Amino acid sequence: MTATKLKTVRVWDLPTRLFHWSLVLLLAFLWYSGGGDEALMAWHMRAGYLLLALLLFRIAWGFIGSPWSRFRNFVATPRTAIDYGLRFLRGQQPIHLTHNPLGGLMVLAMLALLLLQTLTGLFATDDISIHGPLNDHVTSATARMLTRIHNWNFDLLLILAALHILAVIAHRLRHEPLTLAMITGRKNVPDPNAPDHPYTPIWKAALVIAGTATLVWTLVTFA
Ligand code: HEM
Repeated sequence: MTATKLKTVRVWDLPTRLFHWSLVLLLAFLWYSGGGDEALMAWHMRAGYLLLALLLFRIAWGFIGSPWSRFRNFVATPRTAIDYGLRFLRGQQPIHLTHNPLGGLMVLAMLALLLLQTLTGLFATDDISIHGPLNDHVTSATARMLTRIHNWNFDLLLILAALHILAVIAHRLRHEPLTLAMITGRKNVPDPNAPDHPYTPIWKAALVIAGTATLVWTLVTFA
């Protein structure tokens, strides 16, 4: 039997990897700090602003980032996603360089819920001493509703994160080590013709993150 020759290709650029692991750390901190005392809540809000800037960056990167980070290369129809899921259950799933069709929909869902989480946080209040920076712009009834969404949505986010981690483990059991690629940026694939696209230059990421950070800072400082 001849061993299959593996080709190493670039998949996740540095900005996408930094986004992912910062997201994991920030979410853990936001979980720990939410509902803490006033000093901890001040850090909870700062971490939320940082997360919002990173999310806006990732959305922009989904249009101008490296090929496998772009939405148009991994957002599939629900039918394709179901088909992939069925093939995965039979152990016949193809290897994807970007997110697989099911994973791509999960990524979209997580980004949408994370955006909802950070935006509702801007209006949230504990009705005593802690208020998001845009809380003054809505009525107290609206603020209470947005605060409830902020609380429930976090539980939903934790469920999606748990499913996401289970999916990564399931792929590992099928000998597809996805996590390594999210660390090194590279995948080893048994296809000598797999494309190895260059990454989008890092200065573009620096410009975009500077822009989204400035936008969020302006919003929370002057609104
Ligand atoms: C709070 C927990 C987590 C959240 C919210 C989260 C969220 C995400 C998101 C949004 C992406 C898409 C990245 C992008 O395209 O920019 C992603 C991808 C990925 N995540 Fe996570 N993640 C979490 C934890 C983890 C952990 C603990 C691992 C590994 C053990 C992991 C491994 C991966 C991998 C391997 C991918 C790429 C999947 C693929 O190849 O399609 N994630 N994650």
